[in-house]
Amino acid sequence: MTPDFDYIAAKAALEWQIELGVDECIGEVPINRYDVKPQKLKLGATSNIAPVSAMPSVIPVQESAADIAGIMAGRCNDLAALRDAMAVFDQCALKKGAKNLVFADGNPSARVMIVGEAPGRDEDVQGLPFVGAAGQLLDKMFAAIDMMRTGETEKDALYITNVMPWRPPQNRDPEPTEIQMMLPFLKRHIELVNPDMIVLMGNTACQAVLGRKGITRLRGNWTSAFDKPVMPMFHPAALLRDGSKKADAWADLLSIQAKLKE
Ligand code: URA
Repeated sequence: MTPDFDYIAAKAALEWQIELGVDECIGEVPINRYDVKPQKLKLGATSNIAPVSAMPSVIPVQESAADIAGIMAGRCNDLAALRDAMAVFDQCALKKGAKNLVFADGNPSARVMIVGEAPGRDEDVQGLPFVGAAGQLLDKMFAAIDMMRTGETEKDALYITNVMPWRPPQNRDPEPTEIQMMLPFLKRHIELVNPDMIVLMGNTACQAVLGRKGITRLRGNWTSAFDKPVMPMFHPAALLRDGSKKADAWADLLSIQAKLKE
C-alpha cells in the first residue's frame, strides 16, 4: 500500500462505498462461469482433503434463517425488543426492497389480535398495517361490532399485525420459505401480546399459523393455535374483489362477538 493510501484513507473509501449502497465485491473484468473448467480433485498423497485426524471433532452446523429468527425472538421480553430484533434481522430478502418495517398497530392489551398477510404499498409507506383500502374495510368491519384499533379498553380494542413485516415486490404472495423464517417472530409476538383470541385474515395467515390453506373451508370455524382460539376469515381484500363474501364475513364477526361474551 502506498503511503498516501494508508489504513485511514482505505477505511474512509470503504465506508463511502457502503454509504453509496455497495454490498458486494465484484471484479473489474467479467468472468464467464460457464467457461470455467472444473478443477480436478487430487487424491492420494497430494489429496487436498484433510485427513480425518485433522478434522475438528465438532463440525459447526449452519443455522437456518428460521433458527436465527427463533434465537433472536426468544431473547425478546417485550414488544419494543421484538420490534428492534425484527428491524435488525437481515435474513429475509424482502427487507431490502421495503421502505419500512411494518410491525403492528392498535392496543397490545386488546383481547383480539388480528394477523394479516403482508404490507402493501400504503402500509410500506406509512409503516403501519392495514391502512390502505383493505385496511379501511377491516376497520369498518370491526367497528360494526364496536371494536377498533384506537380502542382504549381491552373490550373495544384491537391489535393488528401481519405474517410478514416487509412488503413483497409487486404485492406477490409471500413464499413458504419467507413465511417459515418469520414465523418465530410471529409466535413470539402472539406470546407477548397474549390475546384471548386470534383472527387470521386470509390464506397466508392460515398457512403460517395453522399450517394449512383453504380459507373458503376454514373460515367461520373456530380452531386453535398457540393455545388460543383462532377464527379464520376472508381477507378484506378478497371482500373488496367479491362482495358476495361479505355475508360470510359478517357471520364470522358475530361469532367473534359471541365468543368474547362467553
Ligand atoms: N393486507 C394485509 O394482509 N396486511 C396489510 O397490512 C395490508 C394489506
